[in-house]
Amino acid sequence: MAPLSTVQPSAVEPYLVDVDRRAPHPLGRRVDDQRVNARAGRTGCRIVDLPRVADPRGNLTFVEGDQHIPFPIARVYYLYDVPGGTSRGGHAHKQLEALIIAATGSFDVSVDDGVHQERFFLNRSYHGLYVPRMTWRELDNFSSGGVCLVLASAVYEEDDYVRDHGEFLAAAHAERAEQDAA
Ligand code: TYD
Repeated sequence: MAPLSTVQPSAVEPYLVDVDRRAPHPLGRRVDDQRVNARAGRTGCRIVDLPRVADPRGNLTFVEGDQHIPFPIARVYYLYDVPGGTSRGGHAHKQLEALIIAATGSFDVSVDDGVHQERFFLNRSYHGLYVPRMTWRELDNFSSGGVCLVLASAVYEEDDYVRDHGEFLAAAHAERAEQDAA
């Protein structure tokens, strides 16, 4: 399989253009709002349009667990001082769900559900990428000073990680076969 970093952005950029043309919604959009967050990718990952409170003193965005994202927030962590040319991630989670935000700058997120691959470009602090459980993710192409903010559904637990891609594919295919048989 080709490395995820070679997957092209495809349908992602036009969606972001559409979002930016719309007037901001002061209360944001729920993650399950089918009218606006309907561009659910084939992997189940999707861009969530977060609330934007425009203010000449500086704009403000907020995220409420179970409201703008489909899980309560148990942990927040962030990646910063990422040297150019390096990548982060390279794993999936058995149960954890996450919202990934480019708080500052930009970076790419490549995702794989075991069958489909997609690549998202994040460069707005009012967009979050919802990543469901059992999704392999790789983050790269960080801009200088880029900060990746992650809202996670669970506290850190190494046992929840799948760090071997072959093992991830086997588990994802087994789950899919089980669902198809049910
Ligand atoms: P990891 O999740 O592998 O980083 P990334 O996916 O962003 O490349 O975590 C890197 C290290 O940091 C690993 O040794 C575990 C530790 N860590 C914590 O202790 N707590 C946390 O909340 C996270 C995300 C990582």
